[in-house]
Amino acid sequence: VRLFLVSILAMMTASAVAADDTALREEANAIFNPLPHAPPTLAGNPFNTDKVELGKLLFFDPRLSSSGAISCSTCHDLAEGGADKLSKSIGHGGQEGRRNAPTVFNSVFNIALFWDGRARTLRQQARGPIESAVEMNNTPEALVATLKGIPAYVEKFSKAFPEQEEPLNYDNVTKALESFQSTLLTPDSPFDRFLRGEDKAMSELQLRGLRQFIGQGCVTCHRGTNVGGNAFFTFGMMIAPEVRVRPVNDHGRMEVSGRSLHDYTFRVASLRNVARTAPYFHSGIIWDLREAVRIMAKSQLNATLTDNDVEEIVAFLGSLSGTLPQVDQPTLPEATKATPKPVE
Ligand code: HEC
Ligand code: HEC
Repeated sequence: VRLFLVSILAMMTASAVAADDTALREEANAIFNPLPHAPPTLAGNPFNTDKVELGKLLFFDPRLSSSGAISCSTCHDLAEGGADKLSKSIGHGGQEGRRNAPTVFNSVFNIALFWDGRARTLRQQARGPIESAVEMNNTPEALVATLKGIPAYVEKFSKAFPEQEEPLNYDNVTKALESFQSTLLTPDSPFDRFLRGEDKAMSELQLRGLRQFIGQGCVTCHRGTNVGGNAFFTFGMMIAPEVRVRPVNDHGRMEVSGRSLHDYTFRVASLRNVARTAPYFHSGIIWDLREAVRIMAKSQLNATLTDNDVEEIVAFLGSLSGTLPQVDQPTLPEATKATPKPVE
């Protein structure tokens, strides 16, 4: 009889937990969206596989930089979280940039690109690093001349943009890069599987972390498909973070809008794969995710978390690591004698 009672009790507890998970899943689905498996439609840039393949070559090709030494993948390593694991990126001539490189994975779902949101689309974004003196230091004209000097590229642009007379142009470089990057998705994380209804996709610790993430108010800002990337907020809404974390010379969105209201305002970081994308924040000096979580709680919510709260939230953040796309390093089109040479 006792055994029977014990097993009834066990069953009741199990079903209570299951009912609890169902309520949590419903609540979570009202705040977040599972990451799709397929790229979204890009306005003004219809999908075709030739364009994606071309964009992949361009992403890996250091000839996009004036020195011929730096590719997009130099700073956005697809084998390592889609970023560079440096505090600040190193670009043209060994120069250090002013901000940490965000991941390119899932960036197509962000409301705008860059920490200050100054590019509306990935297409617009791509011009930034190509033309920046501290990154690839190139010009649209020199880049197009280089690519025109590589016969296989001429052919590949024609295939990717079959309806156009002069397809090898700068606009199409950025369109191909946008198309390729829209395929860099990391679906099927434990969190996505939980949202889609799979029981046991997340551990008990991770589920407690999800409850904390909602209950503490992190979801005021980190919401939607990318668990962030969806809005702009002041970094230091409640309490200004230390100067080393929020340097005084980076005014974020105010530099874009010119409005003092936007001082120290940044795009809410996407937390997808955040366990793989240290260091953190636009300043890139915090390497420990636990410390990043404590800084957020203090600066954005004026909350002091216990060690246990932090452990749970960090476990939840770990459930946001999805399946990285398998992108093979491509063989790049060969240069000829006529291809312009790199300049210093
Ligand atoms: C020298 C390093 C470096 C190179 C080269 C580089 N990037 Fe970046 N990338 C960065 C940094 C740093 C940022 C953030 C800059 C900022 O917010 O002001 C960034 C931001 C981005 C973002 C925005 C992500 C987001 O969610 O906001 C995308 C997308 C991106 N880069 C794609 C590219 C592409 C495509 C190329 C090649 C054409 C490229 N990058 C070349 C360092 C680099
Ligand atoms: C008021 C809005 C707001 C709230 C609330 C908020 N965040 Fe943030 N979060 C941001 C912004 C904005 C950034 C980008 C800060 C920067 O580097 O400029 C960010 C960045 C982060 C980062 C760094 C990610 C990276 O890749 O650099 C983590 C981790 C993070 N938040 C976790 C949390 C957690 C956990 C909570 C709840 C305890 C929380 N956030 C609450 C707005 C918010």
